[in-house]
Amino acid sequence: MDQTVRKGNASPNNVEPVPVSNDVYSALRGVVDPELGGNVVDLGMVTSVDIDPDGRVEIGLALTIAQCPMRGYLEGETSRKIAALPGVSEVLVRTTAMTREQRANLMSGARLRARENAHRTRVHPTTRVVAISSGKGGVGKSTVAVNLAVALAGKAFSVGLLDADIWGFSIPRMLGSDERLSADDDTRLITPADVQGIKVVSTGLIIDKEETALMWRGLMLSKALEQFLNEVEWGMLDYLVIDMPPGTGDIQMALARLLPQAEMVVVTTPQIAAQKVAVRVADMARRSHMPIIGVIENMSSFVCDHGEEYPLFGAGGGAELASTLSVPLLAQIPLDPAVVTGGDEGAPVTTDRPETPAAMEFDRAAKRLLELLPPVNEENCTGRIAKLLEQLAVSEPVASPSSTGVTSH
Ligand SMILES: Nc1ncnc2c1ncn2[C@@H]1O[C@H](COP(=O)(O)OP(=O)(O)OP(=O)(O)O)[C@@H](O)[C@H]1O
Ligand SMILES: [Mg+2]
Repeated sequence: MDQTVRKGNASPNNVEPVPVSNDVYSALRGVVDPELGGNVVDLGMVTSVDIDPDGRVEIGLALTIAQCPMRGYLEGETSRKIAALPGVSEVLVRTTAMTREQRANLMSGARLRARENAHRTRVHPTTRVVAISSGKGGVGKSTVAVNLAVALAGKAFSVGLLDADIWGFSIPRMLGSDERLSADDDTRLITPADVQGIKVVSTGLIIDKEETALMWRGLMLSKALEQFLNEVEWGMLDYLVIDMPPGTGDIQMALARLLPQAEMVVVTTPQIAAQKVAVRVADMARRSHMPIIGVIENMSSFVCDHGEEYPLFGAGGGAELASTLSVPLLAQIPLDPAVVTGGDEGAPVTTDRPETPAAMEFDRAAKRLLELLPPVNEENCTGRIAKLLEQLAVSEPVASPSSTGVTSH
């Protein structure tokens, strides 16, 4: 059966123009086949893109084989990324199986790409990349990034944390690390610091002298980010959390270009009148084609020892932004002095004070993230390559039985 996703929760004031075919293809470049290590567009798996004037998008996706074990994953990822585009009301993914010839082309293309683009970035295609962004500064992006990373690591996932705030870095302080990054003598690749069970890279773990700082300052920001993605031995991570700098500019665009599988979690405060922020975030998502997974409201009500709630920074901002962006509100982290001391002392509340309401809410955010973005299970595809090669090895040109029709399930 084809997979249809209707976009719920669309707010009436979110009347966006219908995307053009270029927007859809750019978003599809974010759907990576974990096994073949390429995106579905470059792999030639997208057979058609049809866009209705009312925002209904139909995608034709040719799978390598009809029984492809990655089918559910690829369909789900395609639906999710297209549904995240502004102006899309419904997504229909029609899967077909490739013909023998299409399969042969795909394999030779994949081999060629593997040779040409080996390790374009060192982030593995199966790594889920979550960029923690916001429409404005000081709302708690770094705090959320650190606490989400330690919460995920605490659930036995392999987690990396990249501080993409090249000059405003705060991750080393928040994790209490003054380790210096080193490079492997043979490979020349940077080894991330191992801090509290997370692989961490930050400019703050590199510069120690003024001259070095000046040298680094000469580098373009996006170049520094490129280096952190291309020249760091990240290894097999389940999740790479990226702490984004304030603003919606260069780094966001560079990240989307370098890591098309990156997705965004937006942090906001409960302050209403966040309309400006919403516009900025939606615009950033549109320009970078980075899907937004959800919103985390931070600095929600302060709850005093007597249990009384004080909405110091207003109320409802997170829900409003989530509804405007048509994404879920993942959590509401209360204002809590323990969050500040945890950040200042390198002891994130999530691990250091797990009994606090803030820590519990960070944990809830991590659980929601795991539901929405489950780890890519490589075991799903073990049989697939063997099957592919087996089929390619059969020499007589017999048409595949399901090569013309929509595969049924
Ligand atoms: N839930 C919270 N309760 C209390 N204080 C908080 C909370 N979240 C963040 N803070 C504090 O607010 C300040 C700003 O947080 P943080 O540095 O994480 O924001 P940011 O969005 O990364 O800022 P920038 O835009 O400068 O990178 C820090 O001092 C932090 O400890
Ligand atoms: Mg920050």
